[in-house]
Amino acid sequence: MGKSILIISGKGGVGKSTLAAALAVTAAKKGRRTALLDADIGLRSLDMMLGLQDQVLFDLADCVGHRCSLKQALVPHPVYQDLRLVVGGQMARPKDFKPQDLKKLVRTLSASHDTLIIDGPAGLGRGVKNFAGLADDYVIVATPDPVSLRAAEKAAQVLMKSQCHPQLIINRVQRHLVEAGEVPAPQMLALGLDLPLLGVIEDDPWVYSGMLQGKTAAEQEVGGLPRIFEDILLRLEGVQLPVKDLEKETRLRRFLRKVSQRL
Ligand SMILES: Nc1ncnc2c1ncn2[C@@H]1O[C@H](COP(=O)(O)OP(=O)(O)OP(=O)(O)O)[C@@H](O)[C@H]1O
Ligand SMILES: [Mg+2]
Repeated sequence: MGKSILIISGKGGVGKSTLAAALAVTAAKKGRRTALLDADIGLRSLDMMLGLQDQVLFDLADCVGHRCSLKQALVPHPVYQDLRLVVGGQMARPKDFKPQDLKKLVRTLSASHDTLIIDGPAGLGRGVKNFAGLADDYVIVATPDPVSLRAAEKAAQVLMKSQCHPQLIINRVQRHLVEAGEVPAPQMLALGLDLPLLGVIEDDPWVYSGMLQGKTAAEQEVGGLPRIFEDILLRLEGVQLPVKDLEKETRLRRFLRKVSQRL
């Protein structure tokens, strides 16, 4: 039985799908049989992020509605042979999915894969509640702004009510603001929310330009993003790997960052 990881956030647009796609690619690169489930019912995005939009024939709603088998709904990635995607129903609504259907789906996907990454919806409604209790690990994504952090706190409360213990990823950190003392360090933010810190990802313009080329953050050629996702995956797999403080940007790193921004 593989490990299932649910990625959610309280506030939308904080980078869940970006992170889910990058983590899935990281796992597949490492040879883990990986399934990526786009559970953002009604507005899927992972097919586009992975450049698979023309290959999707069936979705989660077809699967749950018995219009196709789960095998038919799994879209293989052309480059990473260990990666397969199931997309949410574009026309479906979260209430169309019964918790027992989702439970069965998550169990079946976990049984046939080493790693199952579920890109959950934003918010604290039925979409998230439906998935609470289904996964092995829960990751809340937040950006370092007060509204996103407050929403992360609420998401954590919803999960903890179902005995789920989430970890936190702080995304889109702007190093110069942390260095200037304008934004607390990610470690402090995690401490404030009383959540274990799973990873810190800087705001990197490459993420957007990579997405336009159908590349995930795990496929950045120059820069530190792939390594960050490898470390996050290792932590999720139980390796004790401390999350380092943001180091002061060296000249070399600044140079590499600028090069990567131009690519
Ligand atoms: N570390 C990052 N650096 C720069 N841009 C980022 C980073 N992470 C995410 N983004 C950008 O933020 C935007 C929103 O990301 P994404 O769609 O992954 O968020 P989401 O949480 O899945 O949104 P939704 O709640 O709508 O599903 C995208 O344009 C993405 O490229
Ligand atoms: Mg999303």
